[in-house]
Order: sequence, then structure tokens, then C-alpha cells
Amino acid sequence: MSKKEIPQVSFFRFLKHASNILKNPLPFHHKNFEKYGDSFRLNIGPAKSVIFSRNAYLAEYVLQKNQKNYSKSPIQTKDLAKYVGRGLLTAEGEHWKKQRKLIQPAFHKKQLALLLESIHTAILTELNKIETDTEIDIFPVFNDLAFQTVVKSLFSSAVGSKEIQRLQYITEAAQKMLVKELRQPYKGWWFKLGGEIKKHTNLTDEARIILKELVKARKASGIRENDLLDMLLDARYEDGNEMEEEQLIDEILILFTAGHETTSNALTFAAQLLARNQESQDIILEEVQKAKKETHSLMEFIQACGYTKKVVEETMRLYPPAYFIDRINKEDDEFEGTKIPKGSNLLFSFHEIHKHKAHWVEPEKFDPERFSETDPYLHTPFYAPFGAGPRKCIGNNFAMFEMILAVAEMVGNYKIEEKSTLIEILPLITLKPKNAVLTFQNR
Ligand code: HEM
Repeated sequence: MSKKEIPQVSFFRFLKHASNILKNPLPFHHKNFEKYGDSFRLNIGPAKSVIFSRNAYLAEYVLQKNQKNYSKSPIQTKDLAKYVGRGLLTAEGEHWKKQRKLIQPAFHKKQLALLLESIHTAILTELNKIETDTEIDIFPVFNDLAFQTVVKSLFSSAVGSKEIQRLQYITEAAQKMLVKELRQPYKGWWFKLGGEIKKHTNLTDEARIILKELVKARKASGIRENDLLDMLLDARYEDGNEMEEEQLIDEILILFTAGHETTSNALTFAAQLLARNQESQDIILEEVQKAKKETHSLMEFIQACGYTKKVVEETMRLYPPAYFIDRINKEDDEFEGTKIPKGSNLLFSFHEIHKHKAHWVEPEKFDPERFSETDPYLHTPFYAPFGAGPRKCIGNNFAMFEMILAVAEMVGNYKIEEKSTLIEILPLITLKPKNAVLTFQNR
């Protein structure tokens, strides 16, 4: 039987829509999916193409079942790595495997329980800064909250506010520079010659120096904080060795990068959705008040916030922060009779998979109850906000605990309202919110 080819979208059509694609490529992708089916090949240059797919089974095959034949694209392994080094997110092959095995235990639920106090304190401190009874853009609040949470989980209270500000500034500057490089690839030579790239790698060198000082101070102090840094310092490879200092710094920079923007995006979208769904706020409020009466343990509190968890899950279904996951195949492959030639650049749109009409009832509707215990969605290939397979987000539980606590405390303390009906998005490396203007009133 002859093998099928993936339908092609011409370079001409790409050029025709180029200016709109630059602003927001998602409507263009959606139109092509509707026209050509769940996968199409977009020609983005005379001899360059990308396969876009919203086929959940193909995503499962690539990310999980035949993952050995696939690697990440150079966007993460080269472009991002030049700023943040070779940590879990940007590493490949045996090096990645060794690091994942070493670091995984630090993210087990039992270990995370030890971080909950720090996470909770960081959340309360940042939520306290919300200005009430006036319209504010909530994104910067959650952006700081997510950064503080990662920093405090790593370093407890041993890091000063000036250092935190600098680390946050550098992490964000490097990410912005990467967005610029990816969106304007034709200016690559200019970014290099004009010194912009160098300026940013110098900045990350500065972050490395700050981090090395923090690590040195911890080692010299002899104090155990039971935080993520202690976990990483205690971790040993199979041969009994510890991580080299440069590798440790790479991993810390990666945790800042991977654990910061994704979480702040999700929390912002959650606040926007809740502002439009007052009855959901009422259910959360009741749940939070009851849970606070019944327990003082943060882990038990999180477990009692079942509805809040569903709100977080439904938020990430509608607005997955990691809205695309990319892979390139090492060898020729085939999926259900369709050829995937070696070196194909595959981009899985979880934004589309999460709203696919074949898998979801009323996909555009905000309905947290679809994630009830009896619903099988959580364990299907149709829902994967944290990715799938061996490279699934290592911070999955960390992020869920953080977001459940943040949403519970936000709704427990404030009533959220909004004027605009539209939720605007900014699809960059992650799916970011835009103009998230809301009003908060003290309860
Ligand atoms: C809402 C929050 C988050 C979302 C949606 C998210 C999503 C993802 C996704 C989709 C991947 C897989 C990427 C791929 O396969 O190409 C990933 C990987 C990763 N995430 Fe997250 N993430 C979140 C929060 C966090 C947090 C809080 C941390 C750490 C504190 C973290 C650390 C990482 C790391 C280190 C990787 C690389 C894992 C590996 O390749 O072994 N993430 N994340």
C-alpha cells in the first residue's frame, strides 16, 4: 500500500499571510487545520517546512511511544541554551538522561511538601501587593509571584531582594532577546554584529556569578534549609559524584526560565476566567473557607481544594502556557500510513488539541467540572499541558501545588471583576496574556 503524504500549504500562502502570522499565527494555523485536517506541512521557505499537527495520537506517538526517534529542535537546544546553558530543558541524549535521573527525586511530592511553607509565604507576600478597587494589569503581580516562588524554593530566605531583582531582570531579558531572535531570524547577523547577543550572554554571566556566590555561602554556612538547593547539592550520580558547579548553575538558571513565565501566564488566565465566572469564585471561596477550618497542613489544604484544582486544569486546557511542543525525527518514520521523512520539524499545537471538537464537548466553554474524578480527560493524549513522555515537565507537581495555593488564596482574599469581555493572548515562546486588566475588592 502506498504511503500518504501530509497535505502542504504553499510558501506563497505563507507569504500572503506573513504579516498576520507575525502578529498572531494561531488563527492562520486554525484555518489550515480546518481546511487540510489534523496535520499540514507549511512551507516557510523555498526548501524549508514545518509540520503542524493537532493529532493527539501522533503527539503521543512522537513524545512517548517512539520518543527515542525524536529530539528537541534547536530552538531549545541551541538558541535558548546559549543564554541559560545545558540544563534539563535544553539538554539532549545521555547527558539529559543522567541529569533527569539525578534531579527527579528533588521534585517528588514528599520533597515538595517541605517547600510548601516557602511557596505559601511567597504567594501571600505577592498577593498582598494587589492594589484594590482600581483597574490593574494583574500579569506583573503573578510574574513576580512565580519568580519569587522559584527563588524561595531554591534558596529559602538566603537571598536578598536586590539579588532577586537582578536575577529576575536577567532571566526575563534573555527570554525577550530569544523572542526577538526567533521572530526576526533575518536580523540574526545584526544582533550578532551589533553586540545585542553578547550583551545578553554577558548578563547571564553576571547571573551565574550571583548564583555561585549564593551556592558558596550555603556550603560555607553548614546550615540545612531542606530547600531545592540542598536537594541539588545532596544529589549524587550513580558513581557517587556530585554535580559540577557549572552544571548546577545551568540547572538553576533552567528552573528560573522554565518555572517562571509558564506559571505566571496560567495564573493570569485563571484570574481572567474567574472574573468572568463569579459562580466559580463562590465555589472556590466556600471550599477554601471550609479547608482552612479543617486543617493547618498545607498539603492537606491543597488536597481539600479539589474544585480549585479543576479550575487550574480547565484554565490550562483553554490557555496552555506551553502551547506548542516541537520535535525533530532522527530517522524516517511512519504514523498510520503517513510518511514522516527524517529531519522533519514537527510542531504539536496543544492549543488546538485541547479544544479539538472530536475530543471535547463544547470546547470553548469554561467548565471546570469536565475534570471531575470520573472524567478520563486527565489521562488521555487529548490533554497535556505539561507535555508527555520522558521529557514531561519535571515541575508538574510543583506548578500544580503553587497554582492551587495561589488561586485559593487569591479568591479567598479578593473578589475579582472585569470590564472587558475579551481575553487577549500574545503567542510568543509561551502563550502569554495581554492586557489582563481586572479589579480586585477585599473580601
Ligand atoms: C504552568 C506551569 C508549567 C507548564 C505549563 C510547564 C510546561 C512544560 C512542558 C510542556 C514541558 C515539556 C517541554 C517539551 O517536551 O518540549 C516542560 C518541561 C520542563 N519544565 Fe515545566 N511547566 C510549568 C512549570 C514548571 C515549573 C514550576 C518548573 C520548575 C520549578 C518547571 C521545570 C521544567 C523543566 C526543568 C523542564 C524540562 C524537563 C526535561 O526535559 O527533563 N516547569 N514544562
